[in-house]
Amino acid sequence: MIAMVKLKILETDSKYRLRGETLQAAIQEDRNLGLIPFFVSATLGTTSVCSFDLLSEIGPVCTENDLWLHVDAAYAGSAMICPEFRYLMCGIEHAMSFNTNPNKWMLINFDCSTMWVKDRFKLTQALVVDPLYLQHSWTDKAIDYRHWGIPLSRRFRSLKLWFVIRMYGIEGLQKYIREHVRLAKRFEALLRADDRFEIIGEVVMGLVCFRLKASEEANQMLLTKLNASGRIHMVPASLNDRFVIRFCVCNERAIDRDILIAYEIIKQTASIILQEILTEPITENYELEQMEEQDYINGVKEGSADSQTLFNRDASFDSLISLPNLITPPMTAAVMQPAVDPMASLDRRRGQSLAEKRSFLVRMVSDPKCYNPKIVRHLSMRTHKQMSQEMARDLAIRQAIEHGSLRSRTARCNTNIFSGNRASSIEGVRRSLEEIDDEDEVYIPEQQIGIQEPM
Ligand SMILES: Cc1ncc(COP(=O)(O)O)c(C=O)c1O
Repeated sequence: MIAMVKLKILETDSKYRLRGETLQAAIQEDRNLGLIPFFVSATLGTTSVCSFDLLSEIGPVCTENDLWLHVDAAYAGSAMICPEFRYLMCGIEHAMSFNTNPNKWMLINFDCSTMWVKDRFKLTQALVVDPLYLQHSWTDKAIDYRHWGIPLSRRFRSLKLWFVIRMYGIEGLQKYIREHVRLAKRFEALLRADDRFEIIGEVVMGLVCFRLKASEEANQMLLTKLNASGRIHMVPASLNDRFVIRFCVCNERAIDRDILIAYEIIKQTASIILQEILTEPITENYELEQMEEQDYINGVKEGSADSQTLFNRDASFDSLISLPNLITPPMTAAVMQPAVDPMASLDRRRGQSLAEKRSFLVRMVSDPKCYNPKIVRHLSMRTHKQMSQEMARDLAIRQAIEHGSLRSRTARCNTNIFSGNRASSIEGVRRSLEEIDDEDEVYIPEQQIGIQEPM
C-alpha cells in the first residue's frame, strides 16, 4: 500500500529543519493538484546531520489539517530522558505516533525499536489479521501485537530493555547521554580551532558533521583514507549536495583521550591529503591501471633485486626504522616470499583486489552516492604498493631479530612494531599514549596513520 502512495520530500531551512510554513505550502500545493495529504513524518535528530524539525510549527499545521504526524526520533529520542533536551520536542503533543530506537543510543543491543501511538485502534484497524486459527479467548484482555505491524510473529525484546533500565537507572542513562554530548562538543571545539575544517549544522547530540575546506574529492579522499586505516570509522552524508563527514561518539566508555586521538588522526591524515592534492592530482582510472600494470611488469623483469635489498640481513636497524609507516599489520603468508613469483604475485593481486572490493562494498552500502569510485581506486592502488613495501620491511626486521643482529634492541623494537603500545624509540614519537592526560595535546606518529590492509 505504502509503495503506491505519493511521497514528497520537503525543503529544510538553513539549519536543516523542516518548518511549518514549508509544510503548509506543500499541503496547499497537493490540494491544488487534487491530492489528499494525510501523513507527515518529522524527524528529531536526522540521520545525516542530527537536526531537529520544528515540531512547534509543524504540529499545529498537522492538527489543523487533520494529518497524522509521526515523529521519527530513532537516534536522538533516547536523549529525551534528560530534561535539558526536551525543548527539542516542543509541540510533541500534536504527534499521533513517536518512535525511538534504544539500540541506537540507550545501550540496548540490536534490535530494539519502541513505538508509541496516541490512538492504538487507529493503527490496529489497518493491520488486524484475524483468521480462525489465530483467534483466542483472551482477545479483550491481552494486547495482541500481531495487529500492530505487518509480521505476525516477533522476537521478545522488552526484557533486555528492562534489564538495562534496571542496571543503569535513569540517572546512569542520563549520565551516559550527557557524556557523549560533552565529548562531541569537545571534538567540535578541536575542529573549530583548526581553520582547515568547517562544522556543518549544529552539534546538539553526539554527532559532529564536518568537512575540510577543500574540494569534494579532497573530502572523499580524507574519509576513504581514514576508514581504510582501520583506526577510525566514520560514515558520510550528502548535505545540500556537499560531501560531509560524520563523527559520532558511540562507545559507552569513550573518554576525552579518544576524542583527542581521533582528532589527531583526522588532522594528520588531512595534512597528508592536502599535501597529496598539491603534489599529485587525482588521476583517471585508466591511467592508474596503466601505471600499476607497468609497475608490475617492471617488478617481474627486475626479479628479486628490490626485495633483496630490503631483505638484506645486514641492513642497519636505523635505516629500517627511518622508513615511513613502520607500524603495519602482521604479515600474511602470501607476501613473505622474498623472490617475486609471477603466479603468486598475480594471486595476491587478485586476493587484494577482492578484499578491496569487499571493503568498498561495505562502505558504499552506507551511502552509495557519497563514494566516488575514482578516489577509492586511487587510494587503494597507493595502498597496494605501500603495503608490499611495508611487509617486506617487517620481514627484514623479523629476520634480523631472529639472527641476533638486533638482539640488544629487540624488546623495544618488538613492542613498537607489533603492538604499537609504547612507541618511544621510533623517531618522531614523543611520549607513550598512556602518559597523556586529558588536557594534553596528543601526538600520533605519522607512521601509525598509514593505510592498513583492507577489511
Ligand atoms: C532518524 C532515523 N530514522 C530511522 C532510522 C532507521 O532506523 P531502523 O534501523 O530502525 O530502521 C535511522 C537510522 O539511522 C535514523 O537515523
